[in-house]
Amino acid sequence: MNDTNNMVIVITGGAGGIGMACAKALKQYKLVITDYGQEAVNKAVKELKTAKINAIGFACDITDKTAVNRLKVFTGEQGHFKGIVHTAGVSGTIGNPEKVFNINLIGTDIIVNAFYDLAQNGSAVVLFSSMVGHTIPPNPKYDESLRNPQSANAFKNTASFVGDSADTMYNFVKRGVLLLCKDNAMRFGQKGARIVSVSPGIIMTPMAQKAAEEHPERMKQMEKMTPAGRNGKSEDIADVVKFLVSEDARFITGTDILIDGGILTQLMNPENQKLLAG
Ligand SMILES: NC(=O)c1ccc[n+]([C@@H]2O[C@H](COP(=O)([O-])OP(=O)(O)OC[C@H]3O[C@@H](n4cnc5c(N)ncnc54)[C@H](O)[C@@H]3O)[C@@H](O)[C@H]2O)c1
Repeated sequence: MNDTNNMVIVITGGAGGIGMACAKALKQYKLVITDYGQEAVNKAVKELKTAKINAIGFACDITDKTAVNRLKVFTGEQGHFKGIVHTAGVSGTIGNPEKVFNINLIGTDIIVNAFYDLAQNGSAVVLFSSMVGHTIPPNPKYDESLRNPQSANAFKNTASFVGDSADTMYNFVKRGVLLLCKDNAMRFGQKGARIVSVSPGIIMTPMAQKAAEEHPERMKQMEKMTPAGRNGKSEDIADVVKFLVSEDARFITGTDILIDGGILTQLMNPENQKLLAG
């Protein structure tokens, strides 16, 4: 038994593609697996336990502050808080910009604030942005709302720049996650804790599969222009997350790690930018 066995890591979206891969990569820790529905959580925990991973489940809607508070208390009871890997989110395919804003950005703000209370020396928070978050330019007119998603009119103001596309709203809120990470670094740092974000490219989880079904040609083209020569796998993300929560990443905080096989640079080339449009 090594000392990480008593360290607790929470994985939100733990029943999802990337969440489950992160759980497997972080098998040396005690894991709290959380996701929206109880059944999905039970299934994920069962799979992990079968693989001899120390996991316990807790169903929780990350947009519900009371539920997140319960998750925090539950986590605190499990042992030494090492960190949280916050993968829970939805893509623009759900078609509702307000839900995309609430789940991906307000949910992230709620999680960060709740787990700040548990953060201590050596804790790490890993947020999930996306490569598309890097395609939205800085602009104080919407950045203020993205930085303060729970403030009155934050959604309405952001929507006035986005229009009614849930895909475009996804890109904006993922910029918001980058900003939340930077904005929180100092207060986490004062506790000896770190906060980072990762920006996956195209990772073939159920989420990306759905997008691939909606835009098959675009997905094929994107795979072709990826310098790494393929789309990503959940494990490509999980291995980096494992590093980011570890002591090897002790001097990395308040920043983002792009894990995209090099495709973003290609997409930012003006002649390819139409591929980014929802
Ligand atoms: N897959 C990709 O290509 C890709 C690319 C860039 C960024 N990302 C980001 O990576 C993260 C993980 O994505 P994934 O591909 O594993 O998706 P996924 O759909 O497989 O998993 C997401 C999980 O989040 C959960 N979830 C959704 N709403 C929730 C809520 N309100 N409360 C609690 N849980 C909720 C879902 O039930 C699901 O299990 C997301 O934040 C996503 O935006 C994914």
